[in-house]
Amino acid sequence: MLRRLSPIQPDSFEFTPANLEWAQAQMTKYPEGRQQSAVIPVLWRAQEQEGWLSRPAIEYVANLLGMAYIRVLEVATFYFMFQLHPVGRIANIQICGTTTCMICGAEELIAICREKISPTPHTLSDDGKFSWEEVECLGACANAPMAQIGKDYYEDLTAEKLAKLIDDMAAGNVPRPGPQDGRFSSEAKEGQNALTNLLPPSEADNASVALALELGDTLKRIDGTEVPILTPWLGKSGASADAAKTGDGAAQPELTSESREEADTPTEAEGEVEPTGRKPEGFSAPREGGADDLKRISGVGPKLEELLHSLGIYHFDQIAGWDSDEIAWIDANLEGFKGRVTRDEWVKQARELRNDDKGASS
Ligand code: FES
Repeated sequence: MLRRLSPIQPDSFEFTPANLEWAQAQMTKYPEGRQQSAVIPVLWRAQEQEGWLSRPAIEYVANLLGMAYIRVLEVATFYFMFQLHPVGRIANIQICGTTTCMICGAEELIAICREKISPTPHTLSDDGKFSWEEVECLGACANAPMAQIGKDYYEDLTAEKLAKLIDDMAAGNVPRPGPQDGRFSSEAKEGQNALTNLLPPSEADNASVALALELGDTLKRIDGTEVPILTPWLGKSGASADAAKTGDGAAQPELTSESREEADTPTEAEGEVEPTGRKPEGFSAPREGGADDLKRISGVGPKLEELLHSLGIYHFDQIAGWDSDEIAWIDANLEGFKGRVTRDEWVKQARELRNDDKGASS
């Protein structure tokens, strides 16, 4: 299946202040220069906030992590868990269509989705409240057929039960998740017939359902204020989530100067940074005609381009002419992106781009 961005796109995307603080905290989990390792959780949080990943959201995440847009797009389009098209305002219903669920009636559930939501998956219902898709096994085969709706599983479904769940949700209710046929969890349908000395406790709901009911966020989008940001290595506690709610200017897709300093400070293990190589000559401004689009170099995103401009580097031919000492200096001095010149072969790429541009203009 081709995974393409939706033709319908919002004008912009921005994390809520609390989600931005959460994302920045995730980035500090990784060694200096490796902040892009946070791309999947940060994309996931963007999806949790909006329900799907728009092009502005993908570009926002790329800016936040200092990555080329194409690199983040590659991740977003590779994993099916990322929704690339708008999803229902209330819920995107994910019907498991794998063997056990299929044998137990998944096709009837899909027929209900076609009838009540849309004839085709990944398409909004007329009122925009729902969308649906078929997914692979969700690991609840003992309770087949089942669907994930929002954050929770609805199990032991029938066509009638799914239709009622959709109607209930459309009316603004959040039906109780878990088994829908009276089972406690995944014991045999005719009653527990093994491990009978481990009978279920007397509670009405199994632990998963009880937690879902306690959290009450089955159909809720995440704005970051739901749970504390636990980043003990930064001295953060649950209180930081509250602080984030009132932070001004925090919604910019840049690290704050404070967190940037934290991220850029060499660790004890790294020790003092020795001066390396020779700084290449930079310009005070781009030549007449304007700067080259340095983001055409694979691995250079908007943030790296900005860093290069701050060093007086505006043109492919400047990079194409760096010698090994100059490469070493740049590699050692790109704060937050050390080693990128060598790793991504900027000089080779810049030579090719310079030659391409020369050829095009002659
Ligand atoms: S086959 Fe549907 S949950 Fe496993």
